[in-house]
Amino acid sequence: MSRAQRKMDHINYALTTGQGAGTMFEDIRFVHQALPGLGVGDIDLRPKTGDLNLKSPVFINAMTGGGGDQTEKLNGMLARAAKETGMAMAVGSQMSAIKDPSERASFKVVRKENPDGIIFSNLGSEASLEQAKEAVEIIEADALQIHLNVVQELTMPEGDRDFKGALERIQHISESLHVPVIVKETGFGISYETAMKLAGTKVAAIDVSGYGGTNFAKIENERRAKKLDYFQDWGIPTAAAIIEVKKAFDGTVLASGGIKNAQDIIKSFLLGADAAGLAGSFLKLAVDEGESKLIESVFELHEDLAMMMTALGASTIRGIQDCPAIITGNLANYLLARGFD
Ligand code: FNR
Repeated sequence: MSRAQRKMDHINYALTTGQGAGTMFEDIRFVHQALPGLGVGDIDLRPKTGDLNLKSPVFINAMTGGGGDQTEKLNGMLARAAKETGMAMAVGSQMSAIKDPSERASFKVVRKENPDGIIFSNLGSEASLEQAKEAVEIIEADALQIHLNVVQELTMPEGDRDFKGALERIQHISESLHVPVIVKETGFGISYETAMKLAGTKVAAIDVSGYGGTNFAKIENERRAKKLDYFQDWGIPTAAAIIEVKKAFDGTVLASGGIKNAQDIIKSFLLGADAAGLAGSFLKLAVDEGESKLIESVFELHEDLAMMMTALGASTIRGIQDCPAIITGNLANYLLARGFD
């Protein structure tokens, strides 16, 4: 099977296997404040993300590139939406473009459409420093995402089987690259223990990319005869993953994995995330409803966040962390079982 076909399979199966349930955001409820003491005009939606410099608290997470005309068209659409709305955007893994320069157009379109925007490069943890530099250069990226996707690789018939040396490579790249490094999962979540390892590197941000949204075990199982069923319900629910990472890591924390709406986003900010990434939800909007609806939906997300922040009395994204809220159900049990208070 060609690489281009695999990329298109991922997109199609991501759309049809759908957004799962199980982020555990549903177990969080804010305590209403009848005297919030501010107005909608007081709300500042600019996140504090250090060197990442995000303008919007929402970003388009890594999806595609390198798969020919269709991915070029999709990346162009996403890049224009990012430009219109001030969102940062990550491209999909650039390893194919590093190995084969004819695959570069579908990545370069992202910079062409959005010359001044914040754009993230993307590579797996098998990448070397030289490859990281090249990926950044191809799209003049502002940061590099390094993805961890052990379960996806294991479920892919043609995937990697050896994951040694990843932390050392991440450490080396984070120390030597001229742009900040973000380490992300791809829908199975980052634990406290993994975040502790990353805390010992120069990584600027961790994107928890937890369980409850796009499920690459399901996607890869669609593509193979012998299904690895045991990976389909594997992973750390996104709400729990944010708490896991916040306990270990002082840098910027990004929330992703199954984020569908402004309620999920604001709950991720309550738990300490600084910005939220959407992949599957934006893909579905872009493919099913088109570019202008995608742009409109992002402006609506901004508006919805401002409305809820007003009701909560939080004028900034960081201020949401101080809002009273209760955690019940599965998330409360998870935290108890994990010994987290
Ligand atoms: C992805 N994702 C991804 N991540 C990554 O770091 N590099 C990649 O190349 C890809 N490719 C990719 C393709 C498609 C079609 C989808 C839907 C997703 C993973 C993505 O960035 C994110 O971590 C997960 O999808 C979880 O977020 P959502 O989709 O639940 O919002």
